[in-house]
Amino acid sequence: MSTLSSKHLLTMSDLSCEDIYSILNTARTFKVVNDRAIKKLPTLRGRTVVNLFLEPSTRTRTSFEIAAKRLSADGINFAASASATTKGESLIDTAQTLDAMDCDLVVIRHRYAGAPHTLTQHMRAHIINGGDGKHQHPTQALLDLFTMREHFGHIQNLNVAIVGDIAHSRVFGSLAPALVALGAQVTAIAPPTLLPARPDALGAQIASRLDEVIADFDVIYMLRIQQERIEESPFPSLREYAMLYGINASRLARMKPDAIIMHPGPVNRGVELSSEAVDTARNLLLYQVNAGVAVRMALMYLLLGGEQDGLAA
Ligand code: CP
Repeated sequence: MSTLSSKHLLTMSDLSCEDIYSILNTARTFKVVNDRAIKKLPTLRGRTVVNLFLEPSTRTRTSFEIAAKRLSADGINFAASASATTKGESLIDTAQTLDAMDCDLVVIRHRYAGAPHTLTQHMRAHIINGGDGKHQHPTQALLDLFTMREHFGHIQNLNVAIVGDIAHSRVFGSLAPALVALGAQVTAIAPPTLLPARPDALGAQIASRLDEVIADFDVIYMLRIQQERIEESPFPSLREYAMLYGINASRLARMKPDAIIMHPGPVNRGVELSSEAVDTARNLLLYQVNAGVAVRMALMYLLLGGEQDGLAA
């Protein structure tokens, strides 16, 4: 039984604003647990969580694995290279096989948009989308919202720039509409070749020159150039891209004094962020990673209807 509006988390549109705040508030409780010396709770003892990662991941896969362990669930990790998908087994047959083993929750990352939805048609378990192609990455959006809210105390009225490879970004498609729904302003900043046809459809304003607007934002959220999803180069060189759109020491100095940098990782050091911009205390990248464990614990707990035992801080 899920205490959220939806049995699954496939896209951010599965969540109401109330659901989002319920996850963020629960994550705050789990973050307190994660800051203790003993981090383990019995909450999901006896439940089975499968991590089905058929596309590379460091942060999301590890974070879900740690989250399941901290809640005492039995976690099974399933990588593409070690699975029967390398022998030609289809996603549907993989889903039916896992379903026969009675797992409770499956986290899937897949290069094809819609793969998490396919699992919901062939499994009884709760399904969480850990990133599907260019489509959605909802747990990244949740941990980003958590980070902004913990840092500023609110999301409403924040002025957020999302800069970079908007066209190929599942992070943009997940985060921008959620920020708008929660009352923030979002501006997509990119060369025209890295913008999708209708970024405004997701509630974002558009700008193409970072230097003209850099001082306006509370949050500058930098996206990686997704070279693995790009067939033809959308700009003359990475050096030129970095000159026009990267955060470096000079642009750091022109940001609002209390503005922060965020990034979903992995970072292309020297492209979207210079070393100064990676290492500055204003960059919350590692806070985001840390918060991701608490957010994923909260999500598993709320989807699986975990007991309150052990939650008191
Ligand atoms: N942010 C993110 O999804 O990172 P990984 O690809 O390492 O999981």
